[in-house]
Amino acid sequence: MAMKVSSRGTIPPFIVMDVMREANALEAAGENVLHLEVGQPGTGAPGGVVKRVRELVGNHLLGYTDAFGIPELRAKIAAHYQTAYGVSVDIANVVVTTGSSGAFVVSFLAAFDAGDRVALASPGYPAYRNILTALGVDVVDIPVGPDTNFQPSVEILESLVSGGESIDGLIVASPSNPTGTMLQPEEVAELARYCDTAGIRLISDEIYHGITFGVRAETALIASPSAVVINSFSKYYSMTGWRLGWMIVPDDLLRAVECLSQNLFISPPAVSQQAGVAAFDCAEELDGNVQRYAENRALLLRELPRAGFRNLASADGAFYIYADIGDLTNDSEAFCKRMLTETNIAATPGTDFDPDRGHRFLRLSFSGETAVMAEAAERLRHWLA
Ligand SMILES: Cc1ncc(COP(=O)(O)O)c(C=O)c1O
Repeated sequence: MAMKVSSRGTIPPFIVMDVMREANALEAAGENVLHLEVGQPGTGAPGGVVKRVRELVGNHLLGYTDAFGIPELRAKIAAHYQTAYGVSVDIANVVVTTGSSGAFVVSFLAAFDAGDRVALASPGYPAYRNILTALGVDVVDIPVGPDTNFQPSVEILESLVSGGESIDGLIVASPSNPTGTMLQPEEVAELARYCDTAGIRLISDEIYHGITFGVRAETALIASPSAVVINSFSKYYSMTGWRLGWMIVPDDLLRAVECLSQNLFISPPAVSQQAGVAAFDCAEELDGNVQRYAENRALLLRELPRAGFRNLASADGAFYIYADIGDLTNDSEAFCKRMLTETNIAATPGTDFDPDRGHRFLRLSFSGETAVMAEAAERLRHWLA
């Protein structure tokens, strides 16, 4: 008998994962594939983290922890806000999570009811939209482009609200995925203050803080007592598979977040939490990774226009270049497929990030080796010539 399948579970795929599967299949068939599709560091966890985890295994029970995480790690995270931003954070508001992905589910459930309306920039990270949709929360698209550096602004929000749009939440990411564009520090503060005053719950995804090229990344905590700030060990800390992230949660959401975390996850991974304590002492190695991203970025920003991708977002942070390829195609998915088969370069079509206008964009990730970036630029120059 045919069983019922829920409609809320039928969300779009994470297209980049499909591209990665195809790229891996080509690689398994012996092709020399250049991976510029996936947004993860080409490096493993820093040495200090690996050393700590070697010492731990065998000496520790590594059982369940408090739902909010181990006190040593929560204290390190709280201290990080003082060091990095000069902001004082109470350890009681620090919640360790199963990656920032776990933080999204818990914070969205705690802050929004089904039927609430949450605004987000398009293009943006696809999981925001897809998780909200699965939870029955309505997404209010803010189409953004080069005129606002692909970021939302107080003016845009004000015009939405004065046009009769009811908004319960706003998600921002600076640096953003896929564009790498950033809000200036005063713009972060303005947005945070506006949301706080207007009763709009701000969720600030700060996962790419630490990977910036000239613009200072500001935390929303600087100006809002009601914002939820989300971060992760996946990007700057180079620990994607450890599934470790965190949130700074305002007092009014704390108990709901605790009960949700207990029931959904029990606790974040114990081994990763113990190891994560060491990550805050590995700045030298991690800043070395950022230096490599900076070299990759400079190389691609120089070479891509020569190869034929002329219209690039500013890439102030993160490790992505979002290219407008509207002069080459109107179907970025087909374009990326052809690029993969004809040049063995894997890239992500813009449709992953912007269902309406993504057909004329693609995203390249420069998180890998510099030699790979140079080879990719060379192959593209020949291919597009
Ligand atoms: C903007 C953004 N937020 C969140 C995530 C998810 O990261 P994780 O769950 O590994 O912390 C990603 C991953 O690419 C991302 O780009």
